[in-house]
Amino acid sequence: MSHRKMEILAESGYVVLDSHGEPMDPAEWLDLSYVDWKSSGDTRFAPLKSAYGDVECNGFWHHDPPKADKDGVDVPENVDAAPTLMKRVAEVGARVGRCRIIELQPNSYGDALYNSHLDDNNRLNPDGEGWVVRCFMQLTDDGESYMVVREVVTDPSTETRIALPAGAQFVVDSERMWHSVWHTGDEPRYCLITSFESGPELEAWINSNNPRTLVPSAPIDAEYAAEQEAIAQQRRTDRTVRFGYDPSAVYSEA
Ligand SMILES: [Fe+2]
Repeated sequence: MSHRKMEILAESGYVVLDSHGEPMDPAEWLDLSYVDWKSSGDTRFAPLKSAYGDVECNGFWHHDPPKADKDGVDVPENVDAAPTLMKRVAEVGARVGRCRIIELQPNSYGDALYNSHLDDNNRLNPDGEGWVVRCFMQLTDDGESYMVVREVVTDPSTETRIALPAGAQFVVDSERMWHSVWHTGDEPRYCLITSFESGPELEAWINSNNPRTLVPSAPIDAEYAAEQEAIAQQRRTDRTVRFGYDPSAVYSEA
């Protein structure tokens, strides 16, 4: 299978953009209908676009008829309550698949490493079409929390920690890059996550937002990092033995 990919994601697998400056009304994420959907920790999701417009978060390929992670359908009760978010998604101009708010409870760095996973973005994606990647638009102001991205899940030297103040925006090839969030706050973290099709439209939007393909990793205490790494990797190994395979490499809905 070959899909159209964007050159800008080739180097690091992510691209960090300028923050979104407009103030946002928290009602646009707090007043939505959420579904319990455990993915990468203690999470719930509020879908803005789902496979066929229902308040659910299943991968589009599970539906009848199944489809690729593209052409998501508005979930009316949530879309009506989130006009600014929908405007931001529409402004990107690219084809949209899954689009939802994630609510994540606080966790530790070790939890984040344990939860690190690859997304299943391109199942049923027709040959020759654009590769589906994920855009993250941070909503709550969690500047001391981080998106933890790794090229190799067991290798800390491949890690970048991207801080999550309100308005932070970045695009990740999340089927290539292992990722999860270390949320240090004491309230839930909210973020808008959207599947976009790679192509000229998405590329133009990225280029209009001062893209940076390599950013310095946020500092972390070396001793804490080493201790948490060991705990997380042991938990990952135990889980792989329990399942008979590594489920984080084939998460379908994360
Ligand atoms: Fe994910």
